[in-house]
Amino acid sequence: MASIRIPRGTQDILPGEVEKWQLIEETARKICAKFQYKEIRTPIFEHTELFLRSVGDTTDIVQKEMYTFEDRGERSLTLRPEGTAAVVRSFVENKMYGDANQPVKLYYMGPMFRYERPQAGRYRQFVQFGVEAIGSSDPAIDAEVISLAMSLYKEMGLKKLKLVINSLGDKESRNAHREALVNHFKPRIGEFCSDCQSRLEKNPMRILDCKQDRDHELMKTAPSIIDYLNEESKNYFEKVQKYLNDLDIPFVVDSNLVRGLDYYNHTAFEIMSDAEGFGAITTLCGGGRYNGLTEEIGGPEAPGIGFAMSIERFIAALNAEQVELELGNQLDCYLVSLGDEAKDYTVGLLQKLRLAGYSAERDYLDRKIKAQFKAADRLHAKYVAVLGEDELKANKINLKFMETGEQMEVNLDQFIEKFSELNNREE
Ligand code: HAM
Repeated sequence: MASIRIPRGTQDILPGEVEKWQLIEETARKICAKFQYKEIRTPIFEHTELFLRSVGDTTDIVQKEMYTFEDRGERSLTLRPEGTAAVVRSFVENKMYGDANQPVKLYYMGPMFRYERPQAGRYRQFVQFGVEAIGSSDPAIDAEVISLAMSLYKEMGLKKLKLVINSLGDKESRNAHREALVNHFKPRIGEFCSDCQSRLEKNPMRILDCKQDRDHELMKTAPSIIDYLNEESKNYFEKVQKYLNDLDIPFVVDSNLVRGLDYYNHTAFEIMSDAEGFGAITTLCGGGRYNGLTEEIGGPEAPGIGFAMSIERFIAALNAEQVELELGNQLDCYLVSLGDEAKDYTVGLLQKLRLAGYSAERDYLDRKIKAQFKAADRLHAKYVAVLGEDELKANKINLKFMETGEQMEVNLDQFIEKFSELNNREE
């Protein structure tokens, strides 16, 4: 029978690689605890309408990349292409705007789905870690959110990072910019792709984000949002920059940074990898402010800001910078046994070690003693305990510390106590 292959743009994360994921996830959770962000888990699929209203119906995500299907009850559902929309939906639905603690600071980790053209760093199923702070329009929280992302990358050992920020301004600034964009592109819109043509009236800013017409000469001379920021937006952006400076986070301002989702205003940012040979896609993390999104989803006003980063690109950056991760030696003790009685005995002994808090393993393939030692080596066992018929009769077990080769005979009845003593001694 023909074998079945994994779907395009997805990957299996196997043991050996998955430990890196676990370390990143664990570190992210610890940093969120320090920054006081709490975990939220939302469904993998949502009503399609949610993404139309939030991500925006003129974006590439909505127009080309969503996994949308009809369920048996004829509802249009979509596998989430990103996390912000669902978090904001949940914020509104669960009336979190009424919580005593404001702003509401949330984080999430989980798979997202986009029907994109797969390439290095671009998958159809990828895992995002993201945070959202909803309920404050203090520019200090913009700086906090950016600093959380930077702290995580740094904590994991990344050094070659570039933070790029921009302001997309408030509604008034955006409207002024929008008009300028329409005037700029309209006379020659015929030279652009059909998507851009339909974007001209609906959402001209999306033209700047077009992958197809990226090199058109009008792109380079397009009016920049920075020149259309009103006083309030300008002041807000300056405050964010001041706080980033206070936090010693270097950044560059790039007025071409528009982001691929519609809900943004004011602060927009991306963190890129500057590592050599990282590949074509260098963006590790993207985020920004989305005042007004709660209202779009039918809730009261609650300004928000957040970011998301994929673990896939995180690991690619770690590999590109050749960061050695401390993934830890996982096996405390391997039980080697010889003879049926000794083998039987290790069933209970293994359990005792595990209950005492140690990771422990034994042979299940009836292997010869040499092969058992080899298995212990492959698992990087810290200790190997050898139990043969003679030892069993004498109520003894032989314990070997693999790092030094040091061996000792231990009373079998007191094995767990002795093992604990030895392990305390080393720490
Ligand atoms: P985004 O820029 O669409 O923003 O995605 C954020 C990050 O997700 C990217 O920087 C990248 O690390 C990762 N990513 C996106 N698409 C793929 C893919 N196909 N394969 C691998 N990684 C990918 C958002 O999703 C917003 N929800 C971020 C946000 C949160 N803004 C405010 N709060």
